[in-house]
Amino acid sequence: MHTLGSETLYLEGIPFSPVIDASGVRNFHGKGWWYHHLLKPFGLNFNGSTFVSKTTTLNARAGNMPLKPDGVTPCEWMPKCIHVNRRTGAAINAVGLSGPGMEFLLEQGFWQRWPEPFMISIMSVADTPSQRLTEIVAMTRMLRDKKPEFKAPFGVQINFSCPNTGHDPTEFTDEVVPVLRAAKDEFDVPYIVKLSPGTPVTIARTIAVEPACAALCVFNTLPWNAASDELRMSYFGTTTSPLEHRFGPKGRGGISGTPLHAMVTSWIKEARATGIRKPIIGGGGITSPRTAKEVLDAGADAISLGSIAFLAPTMVATTIDESIRYKRGLAYR
Ligand SMILES: Cc1cc2nc3c(=O)[nH]c(=O)nc-3n(C[C@H](O)[C@H](O)[C@H](O)COP(=O)(O)O)c2cc1C
Repeated sequence: MHTLGSETLYLEGIPFSPVIDASGVRNFHGKGWWYHHLLKPFGLNFNGSTFVSKTTTLNARAGNMPLKPDGVTPCEWMPKCIHVNRRTGAAINAVGLSGPGMEFLLEQGFWQRWPEPFMISIMSVADTPSQRLTEIVAMTRMLRDKKPEFKAPFGVQINFSCPNTGHDPTEFTDEVVPVLRAAKDEFDVPYIVKLSPGTPVTIARTIAVEPACAALCVFNTLPWNAASDELRMSYFGTTTSPLEHRFGPKGRGGISGTPLHAMVTSWIKEARATGIRKPIIGGGGITSPRTAKEVLDAGADAISLGSIAFLAPTMVATTIDESIRYKRGLAYR
């Protein structure tokens, strides 16, 4: 539970923690993944972080991570679509938004029961821009209709940046503003726009000045296809994605963890230097209080924690606590 203080991130009046889950890190329901339960006593707990649900699409989607009939539990203990290199602190995933779809998730009631402000992440992977807009509006309408059942207020993260859907995430940038306006007209909640590392700051600026955009969230994973050979070699020792042999050219995956850290800090600095004033939730490769502080010092209002859960699980609780202290103006311990 996040207790309110000077560090609280208010988006359209809703108080969120300055530490925010990276979507996917606590599954759709906020209970995490099986290993979170085992490692909880050793520091893998998200107390104090704002829950962000794993991204859902409108309809059920197979993706590359088979799920049990409950719609949320992976069939595989170690999903084959996630490749982790613990030595270099980097990962690649090609989950591809596997999930049971919006209606199924709303029927479970876990979002309605969530006790404190949180975010629901949505994305459309339909073929055309107008179909994608229609799907996003349909999802916001479903949330609007269920709103009276929710215990806590929530924001909606619109994911425009999943690299595992057969689309190049930078394809979506022209759609962001029209989608935000249509969603806001349908259902008035804070919308947080999640961007890809490939998004130029100039485009982010156009999005940020849009009144329907409450905050930016940077970054999603770096598409394997967009990574340099140098980066691929230094973090994975190969120029061919380790996931490609199984999932094909569309399943090369997106890179998370340490390779993103320098990218996100320099992107945020540039964003602030070019006058972006909207709140920025910054994450990518945060695996310690020090790396979190670097993202806050770059100009982020809040940080997000993702791959730390499997790259440095024992650092999760300390990173949350220390980041909240830092935002409160207290020294790191
Ligand atoms: C296994 C896995 C699943 C992910 N699922 C989602 C998702 O459903 N929606 C989303 O917006 N980002 C998703 N991401 C991206 C993370 O939220 C985060 O933006 C990215 O991994 C960079 O942060 P990190 O280096 O701290 O992990 C996923 C990342 C991983 C590793």
